[in-house]
Amino acid sequence: MIDCTVSLAGLHLETPLIAAAGTAGYGEELLSITRMRGLGAIVTKSITLETRAGNPPMRLAELEHGMLNAVGLANVGLDGFIAEVAPRVRDLPIPAICSMAGESIDEFEQVAAAMQAMAFVKAVEVNVSCPNTSEGRSFAESPSSLRDLLVDLRTVLKRAAMIVKLPLDFESPSHAAETAVEAGADAITLINTVPGMSIDVKTRRSRIGRRSGGVSGPGIHPLAVRMIADVYRDVAGPAKVPIIGLGGVMRWQDAAEFILAGASAVGVGTALFVDPRRPRKIMRGLTRWAKSQGCGSIRELIGSADI
Ligand SMILES: Cc1cc2nc3c(=O)[nH]c(=O)nc-3n(C[C@H](O)[C@H](O)[C@H](O)COP(=O)(O)O)c2cc1C
Repeated sequence: MIDCTVSLAGLHLETPLIAAAGTAGYGEELLSITRMRGLGAIVTKSITLETRAGNPPMRLAELEHGMLNAVGLANVGLDGFIAEVAPRVRDLPIPAICSMAGESIDEFEQVAAAMQAMAFVKAVEVNVSCPNTSEGRSFAESPSSLRDLLVDLRTVLKRAAMIVKLPLDFESPSHAAETAVEAGADAITLINTVPGMSIDVKTRRSRIGRRSGGVSGPGIHPLAVRMIADVYRDVAGPAKVPIIGLGGVMRWQDAAEFILAGASAVGVGTALFVDPRRPRKIMRGLTRWAKSQGCGSIRELIGSADI
């Protein structure tokens, strides 16, 4: 028997796989289709203070190696979440991490305070990396504004863990992670979608309702592996802050790569659109792999790549 459990930001996960923010709604559809088998936790859609209708259609376009989306953080808003969604999220069979986004520190703070007040919310994921809104990435783009936001949220989140979701950074992969760890992050999620564009050659227009959007799926996987490996080596490993690796995990080998690069848990997003039962298949592969590597637990393989 291989031990697949993971302790992360105060959460106990039965498996290291986590449904990625925005790709499994608030969990209900996944629950009805798959009973969430194979998943250790789910991250909800990002919640904002006000209800958001999101961007105009089309919001999704299929790409050769993944997907382009510009959903634009459509969500029920904080009041809608508390009144309608939270009771159902609380009753899910696996822990829910509540993602939140905002345009200002004040907005983030109000959402964080409300999350903190709901006892079932054990962890929040602070989304400072969405490429599909005008303000989505602004906090992650400047170390000082990221620090101001996170230091503030840390004081609000006294009980709930603070997970920080960062964007791909080609030039300085570890800088934002360093700021997040210094500000007291309990875990770091890497990466969000990567800004991209797709043009319909017949109409000569964008294939989505917005000029550009975020690329997800297999095409971004190697970019995520490198980012995770660098952040693990430079910041997260020495500080013992766990990483949730995310980006293009379609097969167990992709998840295994993230674990070898330093991820303690692995997010699955686009793969759920292809096959909602994929987490179970990935877990089967991961378990066999750990056994073939002579390990009694998947945890033993975290950060063990010779790179
Ligand atoms: C349709 C769609 C909606 C998303 N919505 C959110 C969101 O609300 N909040 C967030 O932090 N990330 C969101 N993401 C990003 C994913 O959580 C994930 O970081 C990204 O898709 C990369 O992982 P993947 O390649 O496995 O899909 C969304 C992604 C997709 C495809």
